[in-house]
Amino acid sequence: MSRLWTMDEIAAATGGRLAGGPFASVGGFSIDTRSLKPGDVFVALTGERNDGHAYVEAALSAGAVAAIIAEDKLPGLAMAGRYLIVDEPLAALYRLAAASRARSAARIAAVTGSVGKTGTKEALRSVLAPSGPTHAALASFNNHIGVPLTLSSMPATSTYGVFEIGMNHAGEITPLTQLVRPHVAIVTTVEAAHLEYFSSVEEIAEAKAEIFAGLEPGGAALINRDNAFHDVLAQRASARGARVILFGEHPAADVRLVDVRDGADGSLVTASVLGTQMTYRIGMPGRHVVQNSLAVLGAVSVLGGDLALAGVAYARLRAPRGRGECLTFALPQGGSFMLIDESYNANPASMAAAFAVLGASRPGAGGRRIAILGDMLELGAAAKDLHEALASPLLAAQVDLVFTAGPLMEALHHHLPSANRGGHASSAADIEAAVIALPRAGDVIMVKGSNGSRVAAIVAAFKTRYALAGQDNGADKA
Ligand SMILES: Nc1ncnc2c1ncn2[C@@H]1O[C@H](COP(=O)(O)OP(=O)(O)O)[C@@H](O)[C@H]1O
Ligand SMILES: [Mg+2]
Repeated sequence: MSRLWTMDEIAAATGGRLAGGPFASVGGFSIDTRSLKPGDVFVALTGERNDGHAYVEAALSAGAVAAIIAEDKLPGLAMAGRYLIVDEPLAALYRLAAASRARSAARIAAVTGSVGKTGTKEALRSVLAPSGPTHAALASFNNHIGVPLTLSSMPATSTYGVFEIGMNHAGEITPLTQLVRPHVAIVTTVEAAHLEYFSSVEEIAEAKAEIFAGLEPGGAALINRDNAFHDVLAQRASARGARVILFGEHPAADVRLVDVRDGADGSLVTASVLGTQMTYRIGMPGRHVVQNSLAVLGAVSVLGGDLALAGVAYARLRAPRGRGECLTFALPQGGSFMLIDESYNANPASMAAAFAVLGASRPGAGGRRIAILGDMLELGAAAKDLHEALASPLLAAQVDLVFTAGPLMEALHHHLPSANRGGHASSAADIEAAVIALPRAGDVIMVKGSNGSRVAAIVAAFKTRYALAGQDNGADKA
């Protein structure tokens, strides 16, 4: 376990007072005893439903170095504990995160956008790592708790740090980017996603532009030139004194797509990265992954990483679980079929991107392209229209059969030509039996929906029913 902090350092950074001890050195942080590892510091956060102070004893006996607790909760806790007593644990975590940033010499990237944040963060982590120790959260830790946790967990020796920053409401990104103080801020794209708390996509663009508020002096803003909102983003970035770098297919892009060969297993890309022409292979399919790679390589260049090593690392990139992972299953009667697991997340932009991948896939002889779709959530009043509108990219991708689940997807079901209608049910659970029996040799099946639509259970059911023959995104094939 590498040493991250001593408790004395954490006490100094947070202004808290230590009680109990002795204290071992700190390896990480945890806010949940179920995932706590020995050597972590437990931060007792008070949420709407749960109060972390109820789990302090469990955390300490599971091997927590100490618990960060609120002064006013002290009377309810055992006398003999290893505590850092503070005014308010979340506020203390922010002070620690700020101290972590202040002690770091790392070059920092922050990523926001309507879709592609986690994928871009993961790509940055993978392609920066050959240039030096790179810190990034393991999961999609992008909110008011995840960001300070990730920053507090950054080793002092990191050369690079990568942070995902998300939001549901205007104003949420500003304090997080001001904590992270990135040298590079990426806005992957601005789309109709999480429309619930916004009255227009323009408002979303303005909220995403908040990420520039935290840029270090002389920092760079990486903006998608192919997105309709590039102008407003560039204006907001310039107003903050940022160096604006445009990425995309557009001829005016500073990181520009020169040529791309899309394959079923990945893409071969030639790009001009701030004047350096390079050709690289991406080990997972999708034009959206290519688009994100332009931002990633622009960031690598600005951060001083090795572009050639980054290009090589792209060939080894794997799709994260639920975000395009390709699974091959054997059929009992012989032959196999492929399942593309997109069950983690869905909105109109990522649906279209995923259908394009399905369209580029090559079913075997007699095989079909099949989509099993759950509701896209958090779209507000436009939801019905946005679901219906999926018919056209589905047909463009030559998808043979579409199965739909959920009240919103019913609109799409009725909107499809009858030849393409596989079936509809009111929930993922209700369509599971029908789709599980479906596969024939050569089929390519995609499962996609918002996490809350529970289509992940359908993927799990495929895994239970059929033998996994391969787990491959084709990285070594294209
Ligand atoms: N630039 C993009 N345009 C459209 N869809 C994308 C893009 N980047 C990623 N996606 C798709 O969006 C979904 C969510 O990706 P993820 O990286 O988890 O985004 P986020 O962290 O922003 O929620 C995945 O299905 C992914 O394939
Ligand atoms: Mg994410």
